[in-house]
Amino acid sequence: MKIPKIIRTINRLRSEIDRARSAGRTVGFVPTMGYLHDGHLELVRQCRRRCDTVVVSIFVNPKQFGPGEDLERYPRDLDRDRKLLREIGCDILFVPSVEEMYPQGFRTAVGVEVLRDRLCGNFRPGHFDGVCLIVLKLLLAVMPDVAFFGEKDYQQLVIIRRMVSDLGLQVDIVGVPTVREKDGLAMSSRNLYLTHEERAVATSLYKSLELARLMILAGERRASRIKDRMVKLLVDSGVTKVDYVAIVDPETLEDVTYVNSRIRVAVAAWVGKARLIDNIGVDPVEIQPKRYRRGNVAVILAAGEGKRMRSRVPKVLQSVGGKPMVQRVVDAIKAAGLKQIVAVVGHGRKKVESFLQRLGVDTVYQEVQRGTGHAVLQTYPYLFNFNGNVVVVSGDTPLIGSETIRNLIDTHVKRANAITFATAVMPNPHGYGRVVRDADKRFLMIVEEKDASREEKAIREVNAGIYCFRSRSLFDALLMVDASNVQMEYYLPGVIVAIKARGGRVEPVVIKDYTEVLGVNTPEDLKAVRALYARRLRSEDPKRRLENGVHRKRRG
Ligand code: PAF
Repeated sequence: MKIPKIIRTINRLRSEIDRARSAGRTVGFVPTMGYLHDGHLELVRQCRRRCDTVVVSIFVNPKQFGPGEDLERYPRDLDRDRKLLREIGCDILFVPSVEEMYPQGFRTAVGVEVLRDRLCGNFRPGHFDGVCLIVLKLLLAVMPDVAFFGEKDYQQLVIIRRMVSDLGLQVDIVGVPTVREKDGLAMSSRNLYLTHEERAVATSLYKSLELARLMILAGERRASRIKDRMVKLLVDSGVTKVDYVAIVDPETLEDVTYVNSRIRVAVAAWVGKARLIDNIGVDPVEIQPKRYRRGNVAVILAAGEGKRMRSRVPKVLQSVGGKPMVQRVVDAIKAAGLKQIVAVVGHGRKKVESFLQRLGVDTVYQEVQRGTGHAVLQTYPYLFNFNGNVVVVSGDTPLIGSETIRNLIDTHVKRANAITFATAVMPNPHGYGRVVRDADKRFLMIVEEKDASREEKAIREVNAGIYCFRSRSLFDALLMVDASNVQMEYYLPGVIVAIKARGGRVEPVVIKDYTEVLGVNTPEDLKAVRALYARRLRSEDPKRRLENGVHRKRRG
């Protein structure tokens, strides 16, 4: 793509756009303050898809910054922005000076009453009037058919829609969903102000929204209860100051007391010197979860993409001994005596969901995969108020035996553990988290392969990925797990760290046969597991075979 043409004056901009219009081209517009990130680029991508001529503006608008705010230090780098825009395809880059937009003697003000005073308006007086003024000036200069704004600044989007409608401007305003980092943090130029430690704390804004969403889906309707838990999570996570958490009507931005229809949950908080905002929309009728009350619940992790399998069949539906892998896992769970089973599905959702539902397994959907801890968190609507044990098993470990699951639960109950998890001694532990013990063989911690020292890598006892948790402490601990790792994912072993830090009893149980917990990630893994299954079938006596839920495929 060609490097975008920089235009600095409104007159030149108008004549360029006139030229495009007379050639019959539609015009799309993306206003920005520069220092572009993927969130902006997504706006430009959408604009590129919908319009013939793409106009982007970069202008750090002084009128939307209050005294003492970050106008001076707001990041700027035109060369970098220009290169990024070239990759996506931008025709005109409008970069006016402050004098061009606000010439000497400028006196005009615009504003959208009431809406401007809600949410951020309470903390940034005058901010939205400054936004309206510049957006109106830019829209009048560009006269686009469509203009694109991120939902990350949701209040801004609502206000601009109101202004455009009130003034009868002929432009279609499109809101584009927030683009997030892998760990969920909403992309923002202000993330640049965060130190490494603050970056981890900043994810608590996203987590607080995730908590609100899950509480609503679980059936909580009292906004005050939800907001209290959000604030607690933000404070416990170490944010510097919470400006607000709010649950509002998506159009009027008015506070709601009970969540009975679609709402917007919004948060603004300071992390160090950065004021961060985020929001999500939630529809309370999205799912109607069955509620588990007591006993044991099994959670099957079945959302993974299995990219390396290079197959159109979702990974957990790949067959081993004539049955989809996940069915073998379900069989083992049922044979261990568990009846309440919920699976977390993601990739290949429809197929996996309908298959599991036929087996009597409930499902929850993990829209974006952010790690095993995040996957278990998605079961919250089912486990809200549940008081019992939660057993987590991977859907891609088809050789798991019912006895192993049963033993894990029995040990967990007998020893009154907060967490009991399975470990296995692997001939080749590469890729697995290592179980580190002290000189007296007492469990210390799990170290992931990527973080392991040479000595730790030599350990052959690994985390087998099967856990039994006491439900009461599980969800609070899941929300405290951080994603400061290479993959930026929320890993389930993070819960072990959180619960151990609070003095909870954590016990690893070594399983005898490591092959039971071999996972399938590649075609080679699948081949190996199929061969092991066939060998097991030949060597096991028929009674044990039945006990383990392993059935010979009928011929013919
Ligand atoms: O969202 C922004 O970056 C700004 O508020 C905008 C819309 C470009 C106006 O300055």
